[in-house]
Amino acid sequence: MSTQTDPANGAGVFRTKSVEQSIHDTEEPEHALKRSLSALDLTVFGVGVIIGTGIFVLTGAVAKETAGPATAVAFVIAGVVCGLAALCYAEFASTVPVAGSAYTFAYASLGELPAWIIGWDLVLEFAVGTAVVAVGWSGYFRSLLDNAGWQLPDAIAGTNPVSGFGFDLLAFLLVLLLTGILVLGMKLSARVTTVVVAIKVAVVLLVIVAGAFFIKVSNYSPFIPPASEVPGESGLQQPLIQMIFGYAPTSFGVMGIFTAASVVFFAFIGFDVVATAAEETKLPQRDMPRGILGSLFICTLLYVAVSIVVTGMQHYTELTVDAPLADAFKATGHPWYAGVISFGAVIGLTSVCMILLLGQTRVFFAMSRDGLLPRFFSRTHPRYRTPYRATLLLGIVIAIVAGLTNIEELAALVNIGTLFAFVIVALGVVILRRTRPDLPRAFRTPLVPLLPIVSVAASFWLMLNLPSETWLRFGLWMLLGVIVYFVYGRSHSRLEPGAKVPH
Ligand code: ALA
Repeated sequence: MSTQTDPANGAGVFRTKSVEQSIHDTEEPEHALKRSLSALDLTVFGVGVIIGTGIFVLTGAVAKETAGPATAVAFVIAGVVCGLAALCYAEFASTVPVAGSAYTFAYASLGELPAWIIGWDLVLEFAVGTAVVAVGWSGYFRSLLDNAGWQLPDAIAGTNPVSGFGFDLLAFLLVLLLTGILVLGMKLSARVTTVVVAIKVAVVLLVIVAGAFFIKVSNYSPFIPPASEVPGESGLQQPLIQMIFGYAPTSFGVMGIFTAASVVFFAFIGFDVVATAAEETKLPQRDMPRGILGSLFICTLLYVAVSIVVTGMQHYTELTVDAPLADAFKATGHPWYAGVISFGAVIGLTSVCMILLLGQTRVFFAMSRDGLLPRFFSRTHPRYRTPYRATLLLGIVIAIVAGLTNIEELAALVNIGTLFAFVIVALGVVILRRTRPDLPRAFRTPLVPLLPIVSVAASFWLMLNLPSETWLRFGLWMLLGVIVYFVYGRSHSRLEPGAKVPH
């Protein structure tokens, strides 16, 4: 039982936790994670979580409904926005090498309330992201079962998009299984991840190399389909930017490329998760930036290549939305390739799901260790050294959400939450340079403050291209978070003067 409070810099909701204190906390044996990851582990970890539903599933819908063959450009735009954010993330991760990602960074620079807001936001990103990917995985798994001639009864084969009923049993079971693996320990997860990532990258390369032989140049015409009105779409479903300027809802055209970028952005989510593993990295100062930037670069190249190949194989109007990569091969008369790709997608989405779940539990762990959420959850397992209580609680909740969830709107919600985190991290880099210029920074973001400011503007621009209803949902979630902070976190924080901190 400890009755000490941590020293805070500043007062009230903007009190900050010193970087030294953040690092010191990780050294308490009962609340410490094992340091076992290298730069290569991190890159594998990054590629493992980044390539997933975004490229395997969303590419089809985006090309068909929003951008046509110019989807490749949308991937470049989203990749550049992430690259800018990654340069900011890398500085933060290499300066504050403890669990919790943007949450921890914000706590050291912007203050407790902004840190809480970002942590709450990351809970949304990772928890909902895990559910989205689990549901995507389940779709591919059912498609494989179909190949073998088996079909699940409708009631347990996912939510019906029209009625909204049905339970996704496979997604539910997947999340529970992965929760069990995470409770058993990081080492096992990293080893499993390495094999899975190899299979996934091989399948993506197969799509690119084999698919290149089936490209018809005529499919690229028009490369940027002309803008057209979307009949029947309500104001709330149109991008906020169109609503602000009073346009009728349109898709395609140059603006459609930006709308597409705000959606395929989901395909890049995950590089920020690499930063959440700082506390488990052997040499975070050197390996973090390498892991983050390396995995992001590899994925951008693969995405652009895949989208160019797929929109060349099939005219964008004919692409499917459930399994577009596999179906493009079926459409060109190569079902064998389609089977292999579906199999790889099932394996690949498993790793994405697992790492998002891991990132989620680590953020929750860090918030609990600071007293903003009950400290009960930050006790690590005496044998496995994992934050098993947070992992179990979140795993079960996410499994239920995955069982009951319709993925499309939730993917947009994940994107807005992540972009918001990028904005805070970029601001944090600028602030921490001023308030703590003395800290050793293994990686320094170039061109501060210009680059972080451009990063903020770029992330915000993509946020504006998301639907108005996504903004509403996001606003409600954040409002709930602020209420939880003022009702619980503020008075239980380890930085609260005189607060007793039970372990
Ligand atoms: N980037 C991950 C995906 O595409 C979340 O599924």
